[in-house]
Amino acid sequence: MTDPQAHSGPLARPEVETLQAYSAPLEGRRGLLRLDFNENTVGPSPKVVAAIRTIAAEEYAIYPEYDGLREAVIASLGGTASGLTPAQVGLFNGVDAALHACFHAYGAAGDRLLTTTPSFGYYTPCARMQGMAIEAIPHQLPGFLFPFDEIRASLRERPPRLLVLCNPNNPTGTRLAPARVLELAALAPDTLVVVDELYEAFTGDSVLPPLVAAAGGGDPFAAHPNLLVLRSLSKTAGIAGLRIGFALGSAALVDRVSRVTGPYDVNSFAVAAARAALADAAFVEAYVAEVLAARDVLVAQLRQAEVRHHVAGGNYLLLWPRQEPGLVEERLRREAGILVRSMAGKPQIDGSLRVSLGTRPQMERFWQAWRAVESI
Ligand SMILES: Cc1ncc(COP(=O)(O)O)c(C=O)c1O
Repeated sequence: MTDPQAHSGPLARPEVETLQAYSAPLEGRRGLLRLDFNENTVGPSPKVVAAIRTIAAEEYAIYPEYDGLREAVIASLGGTASGLTPAQVGLFNGVDAALHACFHAYGAAGDRLLTTTPSFGYYTPCARMQGMAIEAIPHQLPGFLFPFDEIRASLRERPPRLLVLCNPNNPTGTRLAPARVLELAALAPDTLVVVDELYEAFTGDSVLPPLVAAAGGGDPFAAHPNLLVLRSLSKTAGIAGLRIGFALGSAALVDRVSRVTGPYDVNSFAVAAARAALADAAFVEAYVAEVLAARDVLVAQLRQAEVRHHVAGGNYLLLWPRQEPGLVEERLRREAGILVRSMAGKPQIDGSLRVSLGTRPQMERFWQAWRAVESI
């Protein structure tokens, strides 16, 4: 018998050999109503499309230039009044890449990640590939509330290397008041505290406004040099496919996490799209308002029909079907062309489906399909 390993090439680090690749979006999603990955469901602003169209073919041959993009991010956050400087803005190939960089720069084998569960699925492989231990504290039931006391106690007793807070949390929508995030960050000055604010546009719970207000035009991160805030344009501005995300923090932190990325990880199309998207705040504001209006309508329908659901922050909610969730997921796809995400195997929410929120007409289409599949 030949040893299968003998033909597999050299083994990777032990942490990588035991790692399972993070399951990326499935293929074949185009043309369907995609309520499975919390993406913007209408696409980007026409100004973004126009900006990409004006990129000359010659530009494809040249490595990307980032001049002015950090300044554009700052302009979108209040400009010079924010007290932010370009060195405090890190550019990444999506927030996924920013997360990976945080773990890569900070997490050594045996170090500990403190976070909550259930939460965004990519934190775990990022910790595992570094050989880190994971302490994931369950949300409080009922209501999936943030386990503040447990997190605080753990931070005090045994400060971890990394604390990752997803606010609002994907997939439970759990919200944490910005003041409480800052309280936790202040408790553990030697811990890198990463606040994943991917969905903050849907709640307004960002730590940035209070940081900026407290700094009075000075460095907003001066009092919190261990805090890194992650922002993305994927879920609001409709450019998930182009991959761009930002990390905001002290210049020293941003520098450290940027050291572990390649020099041109963010491509020219993403740069052009991000500039145009940041300049068109009205588009994002209108989209967010539409999603929140759609949420209100759907939640009223769910209540009236007594469908078990959980809704809090973010452009998504959890639904518990009466039938087997895998069957409902499959029938929504096959019979109505609608994709939703099964939460099978996730602690506390096994048996639910996560449904992203889009526009009112899209959610009405979803609701009619749900009623047909669930016979209500
Ligand atoms: C909580 C959270 N963080 C980060 C990401 C990744 O975002 P990006 O598209 O910017 O890589 C996602 C995407 O689903 C997410 O839900």
